[in-house]
Amino acid sequence: MQIPTGALVLEPTADGSMTLFSADFGEWFHSREGAYAEANATYVEATDLATLARAPSLTVLDVCYGLGYNTAAALTAIAQINPACQVQVMALEIDPRVPRQAVEADLIGGWPAIVQDALRELAATGQATRPGLNATLLWGDARQLIQAVEALGFQADVIFFDPFSPPHCPELWTVEFIARVAACLHPQGKLVTYSCAAAVRTALQLAGLSVGPVNAVGRRWPGTLAQVNPRGLAPLSLQEQEHLLTRAAIPYRDPTLNDSAAAIRQRRQQEQAGSDLVPTSRWRKRWLPPHEKKLPAR
Ligand SMILES: C[S@@+](CC[C@H](N)C(=O)[O-])C[C@H]1O[C@@H](n2cnc3c(N)ncnc32)[C@H](O)[C@@H]1O
Repeated sequence: MQIPTGALVLEPTADGSMTLFSADFGEWFHSREGAYAEANATYVEATDLATLARAPSLTVLDVCYGLGYNTAAALTAIAQINPACQVQVMALEIDPRVPRQAVEADLIGGWPAIVQDALRELAATGQATRPGLNATLLWGDARQLIQAVEALGFQADVIFFDPFSPPHCPELWTVEFIARVAACLHPQGKLVTYSCAAAVRTALQLAGLSVGPVNAVGRRWPGTLAQVNPRGLAPLSLQEQEHLLTRAAIPYRDPTLNDSAAAIRQRRQQEQAGSDLVPTSRWRKRWLPPHEKKLPAR
Protein backbone atom coordinates (compact mmCIF):
# COMPACT_ATOMS: atom_id res chain seq x y z
CA MET A 1 0.00 0.00 0.00
CA GLN A 2 1.26 3.48 -0.94
CA ILE A 3 1.75 6.01 1.85
CA PRO A 4 -1.00 8.63 1.36
CA THR A 5 0.24 11.92 -0.10
CA GLY A 6 -3.04 13.72 -0.85
CA ALA A 7 -4.25 16.90 0.82
CA LEU A 8 -5.27 16.91 4.48
CA VAL A 9 -7.79 19.72 4.99
CA LEU A 10 -8.52 21.20 8.44
CA GLU A 11 -12.16 21.43 9.52
CA PRO A 12 -13.78 22.45 12.82
CA THR A 13 -16.35 20.10 14.37
CA ALA A 14 -19.41 20.93 16.45
CA ASP A 15 -17.67 20.61 19.84
CA GLY A 16 -15.00 23.15 18.79
CA SER A 17 -12.26 20.55 18.23
CA MET A 18 -10.66 20.23 14.80
CA THR A 19 -10.56 17.30 12.44
CA LEU A 20 -9.08 16.67 8.98
CA PHE A 21 -10.50 15.63 5.63
CA SER A 22 -8.38 13.12 3.69
CA ALA A 23 -8.32 13.64 -0.08
CA ASP A 24 -6.85 10.13 -0.50
CA PHE A 25 -9.71 8.39 1.28
CA GLY A 26 -12.41 10.99 0.53
CA GLU A 27 -13.51 11.06 4.15
CA TRP A 28 -13.38 13.01 7.42
CA PHE A 29 -11.22 11.64 10.22
CA HIS A 30 -14.00 12.10 12.80
CA SER A 31 -17.71 12.66 13.21
CA ARG A 32 -18.47 16.30 12.36
CA GLU A 33 -20.53 16.37 15.59
CA GLY A 34 -17.30 16.54 17.59
CA ALA A 35 -13.86 15.01 17.17
CA TYR A 36 -12.85 15.13 20.86
CA ALA A 37 -16.39 14.10 21.82
CA GLU A 38 -16.12 11.08 19.56
CA ALA A 39 -12.82 10.00 21.13
CA ASN A 40 -14.28 10.40 24.62
CA ALA A 41 -17.67 8.77 24.04
CA THR A 42 -17.26 6.25 21.22
CA TYR A 43 -13.92 4.90 22.42
CA VAL A 44 -13.27 5.71 26.10
CA GLU A 45 -16.80 5.59 27.53
CA ALA A 46 -17.90 2.72 25.30
CA THR A 47 -15.11 0.49 26.65
CA ASP A 48 -15.80 1.64 30.24
CA LEU A 49 -12.19 2.67 30.57
CA ALA A 50 -13.06 4.38 33.86
CA THR A 51 -13.53 0.95 35.42
CA LEU A 52 -10.64 -0.75 33.61
CA ALA A 53 -8.26 2.03 34.69
CA ARG A 54 -8.64 1.07 38.35
CA ALA A 55 -6.36 -1.91 37.63
CA PRO A 56 -2.62 -1.56 38.34
CA SER A 57 -1.87 -1.74 34.60
CA LEU A 58 -3.67 -1.27 31.29
CA THR A 59 -2.67 -2.14 27.73
CA VAL A 60 -4.16 -0.28 24.76
CA LEU A 61 -3.89 -1.01 21.03
CA ASP A 62 -4.84 2.04 18.91
CA VAL A 63 -5.45 0.87 15.33
CA CYS A 64 -5.28 3.96 13.10
CA TYR A 65 -3.78 6.51 15.50
CA GLY A 66 -4.43 9.47 13.17
CA LEU A 67 -4.31 12.71 15.16
CA GLY A 68 -3.96 10.65 18.34
CA TYR A 69 -7.29 11.71 19.82
CA ASN A 70 -8.36 8.23 20.94
CA THR A 71 -5.05 7.65 22.72
CA ALA A 72 -5.27 11.18 24.17
CA ALA A 73 -8.79 10.61 25.50
CA ALA A 74 -7.69 7.31 27.06
CA LEU A 75 -4.58 8.80 28.72
CA THR A 76 -6.67 11.72 30.03
CA ALA A 77 -9.29 9.41 31.55
CA ILE A 78 -6.71 7.07 33.08
CA ALA A 79 -4.76 9.99 34.62
CA GLN A 80 -7.96 11.29 36.23
CA ILE A 81 -9.08 7.93 37.60
CA ASN A 82 -5.84 6.24 38.61
CA PRO A 83 -2.61 8.18 38.04
CA ALA A 84 -0.68 5.16 39.39
CA CYS A 85 -1.89 2.91 36.57
CA GLN A 86 0.99 1.58 34.41
CA VAL A 87 -0.15 2.18 30.82
CA GLN A 88 1.21 0.56 27.70
CA VAL A 89 0.01 1.92 24.34
CA MET A 90 0.76 0.40 20.94
CA ALA A 91 -0.48 2.53 18.04
CA LEU A 92 -0.47 1.88 14.29
CA GLU A 93 -0.54 4.56 11.58
CA ILE A 94 0.46 4.75 7.92
CA ASP A 95 0.72 8.52 7.43
CA PRO A 96 3.30 10.33 9.59
CA ARG A 97 1.99 13.70 8.37
CA VAL A 98 -1.22 13.27 10.33
CA PRO A 99 0.07 13.15 13.94
CA ARG A 100 2.68 15.76 13.05
CA GLN A 101 0.06 18.12 11.66
CA ALA A 102 -2.01 17.59 14.80
CA VAL A 103 0.98 18.79 16.84
CA GLU A 104 2.15 21.60 14.53
CA ALA A 105 -1.34 23.10 14.08
CA ASP A 106 -1.98 22.69 17.83
CA LEU A 107 -5.05 20.54 17.29
CA ILE A 108 -4.13 18.68 20.49
CA GLY A 109 -4.24 21.81 22.68
CA GLY A 110 -7.50 20.75 24.35
CA TRP A 111 -5.93 17.73 26.09
CA PRO A 112 -4.08 18.06 29.43
CA ALA A 113 -0.45 19.23 29.20
CA ILE A 114 1.04 15.84 30.18
CA VAL A 115 -1.01 14.16 27.45
CA GLN A 116 0.03 16.76 24.86
CA ASP A 117 3.68 16.11 25.78
CA ALA A 118 3.24 12.39 25.13
CA LEU A 119 1.51 13.03 21.77
CA ARG A 120 4.30 15.43 20.72
CA GLU A 121 6.97 12.86 21.52
CA LEU A 122 5.06 10.10 19.76
CA ALA A 123 4.64 12.22 16.60
CA ALA A 124 8.32 13.17 16.61
CA THR A 125 10.03 9.91 17.60
CA GLY A 126 7.39 7.15 17.68
CA GLN A 127 8.07 6.60 21.40
CA ALA A 128 6.95 8.21 24.66
CA THR A 129 8.40 6.69 27.81
CA ARG A 130 7.98 8.14 31.30
CA PRO A 131 6.98 6.80 34.73
CA GLY A 132 3.59 5.12 34.26
CA LEU A 133 3.60 5.25 30.43
CA ASN A 134 5.25 3.25 27.69
CA ALA A 135 3.78 4.29 24.32
CA THR A 136 4.93 3.27 20.86
CA LEU A 137 3.66 4.55 17.51
CA LEU A 138 4.53 2.20 14.65
CA TRP A 139 4.56 3.60 11.11
CA GLY A 140 3.38 1.60 8.10
CA ASP A 141 0.51 -0.43 6.72
CA ALA A 142 -1.42 -1.77 9.71
CA ARG A 143 -1.82 -5.07 7.83
CA GLN A 144 1.91 -5.69 8.13
CA LEU A 145 2.43 -3.95 11.49
CA ILE A 146 -0.22 -6.07 13.21
CA GLN A 147 1.77 -9.21 12.39
CA ALA A 148 4.79 -7.80 14.22
CA VAL A 149 2.60 -6.77 17.17
CA GLU A 150 1.10 -10.27 17.32
CA ALA A 151 4.59 -11.83 17.18
CA LEU A 152 5.47 -9.86 20.34
CA GLY A 153 2.60 -11.66 22.12
CA PHE A 154 0.90 -8.28 22.67
CA GLN A 155 -2.44 -8.68 24.49
CA ALA A 156 -4.57 -5.55 24.70
CA ASP A 157 -7.12 -4.86 27.40
CA VAL A 158 -8.65 -2.33 25.02
CA ILE A 159 -8.48 -1.99 21.24
CA PHE A 160 -9.60 1.21 19.54
CA PHE A 161 -10.43 0.22 15.95
CA ASP A 162 -10.80 3.39 13.89
CA PRO A 163 -9.99 3.03 10.16
CA PHE A 164 -11.80 5.06 7.52
CA SER A 165 -15.15 3.45 6.66
CA PRO A 166 -15.36 0.02 4.97
CA PRO A 167 -16.31 1.34 1.50
CA HIS A 168 -13.39 3.83 1.59
CA CYS A 169 -10.75 1.65 3.28
CA PRO A 170 -11.86 -1.99 2.87
CA GLU A 171 -8.31 -3.30 3.43
CA LEU A 172 -8.62 -2.65 7.19
CA TRP A 173 -12.01 -4.35 7.61
CA THR A 174 -11.24 -7.78 6.13
CA VAL A 175 -11.71 -11.14 7.82
CA GLU A 176 -7.95 -11.70 7.65
CA PHE A 177 -6.89 -8.36 9.13
CA ILE A 178 -9.54 -8.39 11.84
CA ALA A 179 -8.47 -11.93 12.79
CA ARG A 180 -4.90 -10.67 13.36
CA VAL A 181 -6.21 -7.74 15.43
CA ALA A 182 -8.44 -10.08 17.46
CA ALA A 183 -5.40 -12.27 18.18
CA CYS A 184 -3.92 -9.23 19.98
CA LEU A 185 -7.01 -8.86 22.23
CA HIS A 186 -6.71 -10.25 25.78
CA PRO A 187 -9.39 -12.92 26.50
CA GLN A 188 -11.06 -10.43 28.89
CA GLY A 189 -10.39 -7.41 26.65
CA LYS A 190 -12.72 -5.13 24.66
CA LEU A 191 -12.49 -3.98 21.05
CA VAL A 192 -14.56 -0.99 20.01
CA THR A 193 -15.31 0.60 16.66
CA TYR A 194 -17.74 3.25 15.42
CA SER A 195 -18.93 0.93 12.61
CA CYS A 196 -22.09 -1.17 12.76
CA ALA A 197 -21.68 -2.48 9.20
CA ALA A 198 -22.94 -6.04 8.86
CA ALA A 199 -19.74 -7.02 6.97
CA VAL A 200 -17.66 -5.73 9.89
CA ARG A 201 -19.71 -7.53 12.53
CA THR A 202 -19.47 -10.76 10.53
CA ALA A 203 -15.69 -10.41 10.27
CA LEU A 204 -15.49 -9.84 14.05
CA GLN A 205 -17.62 -12.95 14.65
CA LEU A 206 -15.47 -15.01 12.27
CA ALA A 207 -12.48 -13.90 14.35
CA GLY A 208 -14.11 -15.57 17.36
CA LEU A 209 -15.54 -12.43 19.00
CA SER A 210 -19.06 -11.75 20.20
CA VAL A 211 -20.52 -8.39 19.21
CA GLY A 212 -22.97 -5.94 20.72
CA PRO A 213 -24.18 -2.43 19.93
CA VAL A 214 -22.66 0.51 21.72
CA ASN A 215 -23.39 4.23 21.74
CA ALA A 216 -21.39 6.10 19.08
CA VAL A 217 -21.36 9.87 19.43
CA GLY A 218 -22.84 12.04 16.68
CA ARG A 219 -24.24 9.12 14.72
CA ARG A 220 -27.74 7.82 14.22
CA TRP A 221 -26.39 4.29 14.33
CA PRO A 222 -24.62 2.48 17.16
CA GLY A 223 -21.01 1.41 17.09
CA THR A 224 -19.84 -2.10 17.90
CA LEU A 225 -18.25 -3.54 21.04
CA ALA A 226 -16.55 -6.92 20.53
CA GLN A 227 -15.25 -9.33 23.16
CA VAL A 228 -14.04 -12.93 23.38
CA ASN A 229 -16.33 -13.31 26.39
CA PRO A 230 -19.88 -12.17 25.57
CA ARG A 231 -20.66 -11.32 29.22
CA GLY A 232 -21.73 -7.69 29.61
CA LEU A 233 -22.44 -7.08 25.92
CA ALA A 234 -25.80 -5.53 25.04
CA PRO A 235 -27.81 -7.88 22.80
CA LEU A 236 -28.20 -7.11 19.09
CA SER A 237 -31.71 -5.91 18.24
CA LEU A 238 -33.88 -7.95 15.87
CA GLN A 239 -33.13 -5.38 13.17
CA GLU A 240 -29.38 -5.83 13.69
CA GLN A 241 -29.66 -9.65 13.79
CA GLU A 242 -31.58 -9.68 10.52
CA HIS A 243 -28.99 -7.37 8.95
CA LEU A 244 -26.42 -10.11 9.56
CA LEU A 245 -28.49 -12.52 7.44
CA THR A 246 -28.38 -10.32 4.33
CA ARG A 247 -25.81 -9.92 1.55
CA ALA A 248 -24.48 -6.83 3.35
CA ALA A 249 -23.03 -9.25 5.90
CA ILE A 250 -20.68 -10.83 3.35
CA PRO A 251 -17.32 -9.67 4.68
CA TYR A 252 -14.34 -8.21 2.85
CA ARG A 253 -11.48 -10.66 2.28
CA ASP A 254 -7.76 -10.16 1.69
CA PRO A 255 -6.09 -13.61 1.83
CA THR A 256 -2.51 -12.31 1.57
CA LEU A 257 -3.07 -9.07 3.55
CA ASN A 258 -1.63 -7.27 0.56
CA ASP A 259 -4.41 -6.62 -1.97
CA SER A 260 -5.46 -3.20 -3.22
CA ALA A 261 -8.71 -1.65 -2.01
CA ALA A 262 -10.14 -2.09 -5.54
CA ALA A 263 -9.33 -5.83 -5.60
CA ILE A 264 -10.84 -6.33 -2.13
CA ARG A 265 -14.03 -4.47 -3.11
CA GLN A 266 -14.33 -6.45 -6.33
CA ARG A 267 -13.84 -9.81 -4.57
CA ARG A 268 -16.70 -8.96 -2.20
CA GLN A 269 -18.98 -7.77 -5.01
CA GLN A 270 -18.43 -11.07 -6.83
CA GLU A 271 -19.23 -13.06 -3.70
CA GLN A 272 -22.37 -10.97 -3.14
CA ALA A 273 -23.51 -11.46 -6.75
CA GLY A 274 -23.31 -15.24 -6.39
CA SER A 275 -24.84 -15.36 -2.91
CA ASP A 276 -28.22 -16.85 -2.02
CA LEU A 277 -28.46 -14.69 1.11
CA VAL A 278 -31.42 -12.29 1.40
CA PRO A 279 -30.89 -9.09 -0.65
CA THR A 280 -30.17 -6.19 1.69
CA SER A 281 -32.83 -4.10 -0.09
CA ARG A 282 -35.49 -6.34 1.48
CA TRP A 283 -34.07 -5.69 4.95
CA ARG A 284 -33.93 -1.93 4.24
CA LYS A 285 -37.55 -1.90 3.12
CA ARG A 286 -38.61 -3.66 6.32
CA TRP A 287 -36.54 -1.61 8.77
CA LEU A 288 -35.54 1.79 7.37
CA PRO A 289 -37.85 4.75 6.68
CA PRO A 290 -38.02 5.69 2.96
CA HIS A 291 -35.70 8.73 3.33
CA GLU A 292 -33.02 6.60 4.97
CA LYS A 293 -32.40 3.79 2.57
CA LYS A 294 -28.66 3.82 3.04
CA LEU A 295 -26.56 3.43 6.19
CA PRO A 296 -24.10 6.31 6.52
CA ALA A 297 -20.48 5.27 5.97
CA ARG A 298 -19.12 7.37 8.84
C1 LIG B 1 -10.45 7.69 10.73
S1 LIG B 1 -8.77 8.11 10.78
C2 LIG B 1 -8.32 7.75 12.45
C3 LIG B 1 -8.60 8.87 13.41
C4 LIG B 1 -7.84 8.70 14.69
N1 LIG B 1 -8.23 7.55 15.44
C5 LIG B 1 -7.89 9.96 15.51
O1 LIG B 1 -8.37 9.93 16.64
O2 LIG B 1 -7.46 11.00 15.02
C6 LIG B 1 -8.04 6.75 9.91
C7 LIG B 1 -6.54 6.72 9.96
O3 LIG B 1 -6.10 5.50 9.34
C8 LIG B 1 -4.88 5.74 8.69
N2 LIG B 1 -4.70 4.65 7.71
C9 LIG B 1 -5.28 4.50 6.50
N3 LIG B 1 -4.87 3.36 5.92
C10 LIG B 1 -4.01 2.77 6.78
C11 LIG B 1 -3.27 1.56 6.76
N4 LIG B 1 -3.34 0.70 5.73
N5 LIG B 1 -2.50 1.27 7.82
C12 LIG B 1 -2.43 2.10 8.90
N6 LIG B 1 -3.12 3.26 8.98
C13 LIG B 1 -3.91 3.58 7.94
C14 LIG B 1 -5.08 7.12 8.09
O4 LIG B 1 -3.83 7.73 7.77
C15 LIG B 1 -5.83 7.84 9.20
O5 LIG B 1 -4.94 8.49 10.06
